[in-house]
Amino acid sequence: MEVIDILREVSKKIYENVKDLAGTEDAAGDFGRGAGGDISRNIDIVAEKTVLDYLKEINFECVVLGEECGRVELSKNPKGFVIMDAIDGSANAVRGVPFFCSSLAFATENRLSSITDGVITNLSNGEMYWASKEKGAFLNQSKIRVHDKDPIYKIVGINTSGATPELMKKLHPIFEQHNHTRHFGANALEMAMFARGLMDIFIDLRKKIRIQDIAAGYLIVKEAGGLLLDENFDSLDADLSYDTRVSFIAAANQTILDDVFSEIRK
Ligand code: IPD
Ligand code: CA
Repeated sequence: MEVIDILREVSKKIYENVKDLAGTEDAAGDFGRGAGGDISRNIDIVAEKTVLDYLKEINFECVVLGEECGRVELSKNPKGFVIMDAIDGSANAVRGVPFFCSSLAFATENRLSSITDGVITNLSNGEMYWASKEKGAFLNQSKIRVHDKDPIYKIVGINTSGATPELMKKLHPIFEQHNHTRHFGANALEMAMFARGLMDIFIDLRKKIRIQDIAAGYLIVKEAGGLLLDENFDSLDADLSYDTRVSFIAAANQTILDDVFSEIRK
């Protein structure tokens, strides 16, 4: 089985196992702080167990880097890393807001730039976004591309959850100039929607996002033709450590990037 097929198969299993759990009392619970630093919820645990059980069952030789479970070595001879955010948008999932997903990626080395495969499944409807390096990005069976045209409505995705007053001040011109700003609460799914062309740019400059939240989106955005930059406008890359936190900008093209950022550079 190809790596992408393994990730797609297990992502489908997560959907089956959690689709009736979201928004119920059973979704919550407090299982202490996970490796990523947030409280692990029952829905997170069920989803992660689905992945770990399947990878063990098929003897996939890898090291899992899970947001909750931490580093799990499934082999002494691993082929690479499975970077797992089994539920991205946990707050939405627990509350029943239908915007949350699973994000799974495979990397051969300890860096984002070595990711070869990524899958993001929208767990509120089962839609699957996926990509393999140099093979393009897909939504279910259809190829996707970023929205590389002059938009009728310019949609600016911007994550402001827990942003500092300083960052809000810096970003303020974007809210003033571009009145179709959006923030949905699951970074991985927002990156997938950007890759599909539903937003023109997606910005997260909080320096809070973990590798698990963006690993699959990293590849899907690139394979869909998007620019993926760090806060210095250099190509985004980072190591896969649990301490790593990044800021990033995913833009459909240089024009929209210049358009949105020219105001805050003044
Ligand atoms: C969160 C989501 C959210 C972002 C947070 C992340 P989680 O992931 O991606 O959009 O604002 O920084 O932690 O905790 O639900 O897996
Ligand atoms: Ca997450």
